[in-house]
Amino acid sequence: MTTDQAQSTPSFISPAIPLNLMAEYPPAGTPLKLGVMASGSGTNFEVVAQAIADGKLNAKIQVLIYNNPGAKVIARAEKFGIPAILLNHREYKQREDLDSKIVETLQQYDVDWVIMAGWMRVVTQVLVDAFPDRMINIHPSLLPSFPGIRGVEQALEAGVKIAGCTVHFVRLEVDSGPIIMQAAVPVLPNDTSETLHARIQVQEHKILPQAIALAAAQRAGLMLNC
Ligand code: GAR
Repeated sequence: MTTDQAQSTPSFISPAIPLNLMAEYPPAGTPLKLGVMASGSGTNFEVVAQAIADGKLNAKIQVLIYNNPGAKVIARAEKFGIPAILLNHREYKQREDLDSKIVETLQQYDVDWVIMAGWMRVVTQVLVDAFPDRMINIHPSLLPSFPGIRGVEQALEAGVKIAGCTVHFVRLEVDSGPIIMQAAVPVLPNDTSETLHARIQVQEHKILPQAIALAAAQRAGLMLNC
C-alpha cells in the first residue's frame, strides 16, 4: 500500500477539539512544556514537533528521551533543534532505576507533560507517580483490545475487521488508562502487519497532536463541545 492509499482509506476519528481551535488550547501565552519518549522511528514525535512548528499546537518539546542508540528519532529531533537524551535501558539493573533517571531528566528540562510516542518499555510506579494525569501514550490498537507488544499483529491474528489506534493517559497496567481519543480503520483483505500498521499510523499522526491539546484543555477545566 502506498502512503496515498493509506491516506485515502476511510477512517473514523473520535470527536476532539475542532482543528481550527487547537492552537487556542491551552490559552496562548502558556505553551505546554512537553517531554517526549520514543524508542524507534519517531514519526509520531515528528508530527507533534511539526504541529508545534506550524502553530497548530501551543506547546514546546523541551526534550526527547530515547532508549535505543542509533534510533531514527534522533535525526528528527536534530531537524527541529530539540535536545535528545539517550537513557539506555540496558545500563540499568531495575526498571525503577531507569524510570528514576527518566524522571530526573524530565524535571531537569522543566517538563510538564510527558508523551510516550512509541516508547517500548513497561513503565513503573516511579514514572507514573511523577506525572499524574500528565502522561500520555499512543498505542496501535483500539484499546482495551490488544494491549502490549505486537498490537497490530494481535489484531490481524484475531481476525478483526476494524482496527485502529488509541491515545490514553498512562496508568501502571500496560496500555491501560482513561482514553482521550481513538481512530478506527478497516482491516482489508490481504493486509499484512506492515500495510495495516501504515494505515493505522496515518490516523495516529492525526490524533496525537489533537489528543495532547484535548487532554491539556480538559485538565485546564475548559469545557469543550465534543
Ligand atoms: C506507533 O505505531 C505506536 O502506536 C507504537 O509504536 C509505534 C511507533 O511509531 N507504540 C506501541 O506499540 C506502544 N505499545 P513511531 O516511532 O513511528 O512514532
